[in-house]
Amino acid sequence: MNADVPWDRFDSRAYFEHNYRSVSDADAEIVSMIRDHFADHFSRNPDGPAQGIDVGAGANLYPALAMLPWCDTITLLDRSRNNYRFLARQRTAYDPSWDQFWEILGRDPAYAAIGHDRRKRFRRVVRVEQYDLFHLPHRPERWSLGTMFFVAESLSTSYARFQHGVECFLRALTPGAPFAAAFMEHSQGYEVGGQRFPACDISESQVYECMAGLSGKLETCRVGRPNEVRTGYTGMIVACGHRDMGIS
Ligand SMILES: C[S@@+](CC[C@H](N)C(=O)[O-])C[C@H]1O[C@@H](n2cnc3c(N)ncnc32)[C@H](O)[C@@H]1O
Repeated sequence: MNADVPWDRFDSRAYFEHNYRSVSDADAEIVSMIRDHFADHFSRNPDGPAQGIDVGAGANLYPALAMLPWCDTITLLDRSRNNYRFLARQRTAYDPSWDQFWEILGRDPAYAAIGHDRRKRFRRVVRVEQYDLFHLPHRPERWSLGTMFFVAESLSTSYARFQHGVECFLRALTPGAPFAAAFMEHSQGYEVGGQRFPACDISESQVYECMAGLSGKLETCRVGRPNEVRTGYTGMIVACGHRDMGIS
């Protein structure tokens, strides 16, 4: 189960070096997709500033960077103490390698417009919290823009836990809020800095099924090749959508 996993021993630096020191082909595709999804939403709905959340942020800043142009706050949430510390350090001075991801985001004018100011802005709007995503529904606040990358399927071997993780994420969003989420397809678990972490083996249709009930518009697709960034998975699944307008 999720609580039995040694999250506090998650080696954030090793994870970052392996996955995000440079941009993989799959991530390049994902970053373009979420950039276009968010830019399209906010060009049609230029409302006041959004409150963003990245659930299970780990050692990945690109979901937060993708939300940056529209947010006056971005909460980076993770249950691991190591990841909390990593994120808190990145908040004040993020690693130059994230500029490669920004280069892709900056091909859209909404991102280009804040390019010169992005580091100062990141420091100002980002807050980091060590927190369990399964407790999110108990909090009074809701977020108007959300991301969750490689988390719900990468926190236990249980399908019920995967479904519950997705539900907690979606329920934390306001009606109509745009979101993006990503999942490892058919993952058999993963190793970070010599420590093994569990995964739940899921498919694109299971992601769709699990998200559709709480979503208005929803699109899912597969990106990447089997075993591109590590062994033991068949690809990545990206879901872009909007929280439904109900009050459930
Ligand atoms: C595979 S990593 C993904 C990290 C990052 N989002 C990314 O895109 O690379 C899974 C993350 O989920 C976090 N996590 C696991 N269980 C969690 C929980 N119950 N609440 C919040 N975060 C959790 C872990 O600490 C870890 O950072």
